[in-house]
Amino acid sequence: MAERPYIVGNWKMNGTRAMLSEARAIDRAAQRYMKAEVAVAPPYTLIHAVHREAEQIGVGAQDCFPGDDGAHTGDISATMIADAGAKFVILGHSERRADHRETADQINAKIQSALDAGLRIILCCGETLPTREKGEAEKFVLDQLRASLPQIEDAAERLTVAYEPVWAIGTGKTATPADIEAMHRAIRRLLDETYGEEHSAQVRILYGGSVKPENAREILSLPEVGGALVGGASLSAESFLGIVVAAS
Ligand code: G3P
Repeated sequence: MAERPYIVGNWKMNGTRAMLSEARAIDRAAQRYMKAEVAVAPPYTLIHAVHREAEQIGVGAQDCFPGDDGAHTGDISATMIADAGAKFVILGHSERRADHRETADQINAKIQSALDAGLRIILCCGETLPTREKGEAEKFVLDQLRASLPQIEDAAERLTVAYEPVWAIGTGKTATPADIEAMHRAIRRLLDETYGEEHSAQVRILYGGSVKPENAREILSLPEVGGALVGGASLSAESFLGIVVAAS
């Protein structure tokens, strides 16, 4: 791994205030493993509390509203999550694309709102199993990214891409090292074309999908893998820190 690996825990719809002790433990340990950049994205309800606990780790959100503050009952804007202490937001996660039928246009509006609010972005992409079995994974993922990459060079410095094959999320299955490497190289070529090599180099490409302490070292050692976006294994400090140690 050339650059400092970025290890991000996506808590998804998990976590009550009882989880703050895990956040504290992650934060304390992250101070000992400075070779990795560590962050967590708790649910909205815990962003401010985790932010208050965190001295070392970054705190982010898992989504934001595609527009300005106003009359949208139940929604949360990028400005509001930034005010709560979030420094980044995960956008385009496959669970939101599936559960909320999020379209590229909506994701693009969210990206713009997040950039306007001064947030960094983790933009997710990934193919389903039938798409991979048809041999169309690379085309699908690159098309997904082409539809949503912000088309301004300056955005690159605030952008992270996360490749998460949908069939590997929460299933215990991971893509093969060869498949991960091939996809990450293809994404890098697209970033080079979009932003130019100098700006593209600022964009880390994370792998996500059943990353755990046992497989993290191998995945993180692959070319163009700049870190991991971790779901289930980020819910306990012990397993998440196993991944942080593997990255250090
Ligand atoms: O965003 C993280 C993710 O979807 C992977 O989840 O549980 O397979 O690590 P998990």
